[in-house]
Amino acid sequence: MRLVESTWPRVAQYLESCKGIIIPVGSTEQHGPCGPIGTDALTAQAIAEESARQDSWLVAPTLSLSPAQFNLSFAGTVSLRASTFMAVVGDVLNSLTSQGFERFYFLNGHGANIAAVQAACQDFYAQWSLGHRSGQAPQCRLRSWWDYPGVNQMRRELYGDWEGMHATPSELAIAMALLGPAYPAGEEVSVQDPPQRLPEGYMRLHAGDNHPDSQRHRRQFPDGRVGSHSALARAEHGQALLQAAATDAQRDIADFFAS
Ligand code: NI
Repeated sequence: MRLVESTWPRVAQYLESCKGIIIPVGSTEQHGPCGPIGTDALTAQAIAEESARQDSWLVAPTLSLSPAQFNLSFAGTVSLRASTFMAVVGDVLNSLTSQGFERFYFLNGHGANIAAVQAACQDFYAQWSLGHRSGQAPQCRLRSWWDYPGVNQMRRELYGDWEGMHATPSELAIAMALLGPAYPAGEEVSVQDPPQRLPEGYMRLHAGDNHPDSQRHRRQFPDGRVGSHSALARAEHGQALLQAAATDAQRDIADFFAS
């Protein structure tokens, strides 16, 4: 159930039986020559909504602007400073807490959000730790959709090492399944060739999109793909990945909301 499509009496009634809400978090950044700029937001929102369906959980508006400074040398990327994004997350948490929400599940679609959301949650908890707020502190949980066990296995089976790190075939497959004919064709750029292989250990060193400045990032990855063979994406993979992610997410959210 989308928060934006609910009325306030309906939300108040929801709170009588459930104190949890799902908050999709994405980004607005380049996704290689054939991937939509909004891939991370589209995927996170679709998985959040699918996982919420059976239990009619509330899904907050997607936070689709977030830190992505390393991609600013590619046209169309919009990045928030980490501090701005943390302030947004903090304001969302405080707003919903004031009305009685107690469990916040961040369904994440963008690596660089992980550190920033977790840091914002630490600042949120500190209000109780420092005695500025009384009562039981609410709880937050963040999960990135590609980390769910069912999805991870599927990614390995479908793409192996060509999954890579950015403009991944798995995320683009989901975007393809969601957008249908509106999915960018990317015909103007040759993307059928595989990208350069990532240097040994690159993914470990740069986990969570821990990348340097955007000029350097573009020099290193000129077309925006970071070790990902985007052309392997297929809409039918995307449909299966979306279902696998939603199934795992539903279980994890049920467990979290009941905690
Ligand atoms: Ni992405």
